[in-house]
Order: sequence, then C-alpha cells, then structure tokens
Amino acid sequence: MNQKVTFKNLLSTSQLTHDDISLLINDANTYKKNAKQNQIKNSKILASLFFEPSTRTRFSFESAIIKLGGNYINLEQADTSSISKGESLEDMGRVMSDYSDIIVLRHPDIDSMKLFTKYTTVPVINAGNGSLEHPTQTLIDLMTIYEHHQRLSNLTIGFWGDLKYSRTVNSLVQSLSRYNDNSFHFIATPDFQISPTTQDILNKSNCPFSTIANLDSFLDQLDVLYVTRTQTERFSKTASTYLNPLTKKELTNISESCIILHPLPRVNEMSTDIDTLDQAHYFKQSQNGLFMRMALLNNLLQ
Ligand code: NCD
Repeated sequence: MNQKVTFKNLLSTSQLTHDDISLLINDANTYKKNAKQNQIKNSKILASLFFEPSTRTRFSFESAIIKLGGNYINLEQADTSSISKGESLEDMGRVMSDYSDIIVLRHPDIDSMKLFTKYTTVPVINAGNGSLEHPTQTLIDLMTIYEHHQRLSNLTIGFWGDLKYSRTVNSLVQSLSRYNDNSFHFIATPDFQISPTTQDILNKSNCPFSTIANLDSFLDQLDVLYVTRTQTERFSKTASTYLNPLTKKELTNISESCIILHPLPRVNEMSTDIDTLDQAHYFKQSQNGLFMRMALLNNLLQ
C-alpha cells in the first residue's frame, strides 16, 4: 500500500485508486480508535464553501479540521459572497487559494469543480457537484461497507430510491464497479432509474446488474441496501415525485448480514421503524464521516 494518496484535488471518485481507498480507510479507522489526533503541525485553514444546503458534509469537514489542530473559514450563506455580485468561480478559486490551505466546495452545477480549480493552488475537495459526484460520501460508504463485510469485492448491492439524480449513488456505483465480482440491483420507478451513463460504465466493467421496480425477489441476497431520498431540488415536482416510504414490514426477508445505508438526510422515503433493525447502519455511516474527512484532510495537507 502507498504511503500517500495519489491525487492533489479530489474532484471525482474516478481518481481514487484501490490503494488510496485502503490508505484512507486505514487512517480513518485509526482516528476512530482515537489513536491519532492533532496531526497538522501548523494551524492550517480550511475554506468551507457550500453553495447548497448541507449538515453532515459541512459540519463534519469543519469539525475534522478543528480536531486536526487547524481552523476554518466559511460562507454563512452563499449570497453573502461576491458570487452574488456576478464573480466567476474561476476568480473565487484563485482568490480563496491565497486565504486558505485547503478548500471544500459544494455547488449545484456539474461543471463547477472544473471552473473553480482552473487557477487554484491549494487542494480542492468536491463536496457534491449537482447530481454528478460526491466522492467523499463514497469514501464514507466504502469505509462503512468494509467495516462490516471486511471486503469491497464480491458484494451484491441493492440501490433503492431516486437513483437518477443522486450523486451519492452515481459516485458509489462507479467506485464499486472497479472492484471484482460486485453485482448491482437498481430498484426504482422508471422516472428515477439509474442513468444510461452509469449503465454504460457497468457494461464496460462487465458488472452484472438489473433495473427493477421492487425489492422482493432478491432482498434476501443483498449484502448492502443503499437507500436515497428523492432529490426534489434537481427537477420540477409532480405528484408522482414522492416515493412510497420503505418500511420495516417490507424488509422482513432481509438477510441478517445485510447492512442498510443511507447518505442522509432522510425525508419521507424511509420509515423510522427501520432504525430498530440490526441491519440499519446509516447513523454509523454518518459518524464515519468525521473520521474519513479527518483522514482525507490530513493526507492532502501533508
Ligand atoms: C447527500 C448529498 O448532499 O448529496 N447528502 C450528504 O452529503 N450526506 C444526499 C442527499 O442530499 O440526499
């Protein structure tokens, strides 16, 4: 395993090699065991730039830099920055490089990362660009899967909910498709099925997958069930937009060793009675977010 991650900016899961993922999971687990704190020698500054709402991603990054011995500056609201005066993302990236040592950016536009990093001189981490990518959530998802199954290959993964607009699904599927012998079931209504682009990626990687409307036929075969909310901010809403919530009753046949993940927030797509199942791992997953982001910041700031 290499000692350093292979990337300077983390903009896409396609940059993550298997060694990068192992290194980061390993480091995150060391933080989780409390064995490694305050790694950053001089006080480093994280610029936390969120142009879309966030709870877990933003606060776990801000908490992570403080735990490492650094500090953060942020946008209280995106409209308090000069972007609201018409400043370009390119100019903002250039300027923020002078005021910080590392930048986390979330933005609704798919092209935002490319524009923002045109002139940046410090590492930039993609915290979500539109419906395209969310690589740090993928690292957290992989850490949580590995924690339970001790492997990232030879898994059967079911994805349930809005698979079309969910960047966490897009990023995780791409990453898992690069491990051996993984197979996928995409459970969604036709309006929310996984995108043709992601299906192409799976075909090119020779990963078996099915696109179906309900869970029943293979629930007992799943190692992971990944649930997502409807991304209502990314399209115009109609009555059919909302999913019938997944309930504990529908999960009666779930295998004992399966874990249920959800990047959160959950809204109305997953009933809280599922929380009582041993298979519910989504709060462990969000807890892992802090440790994985500590590992990532520390690696990129070395
Ligand atoms: C996700 C996101 O922002 O894409 N949330 C997160 O980062 N934990 C999922 C979502 O908003 O549905």
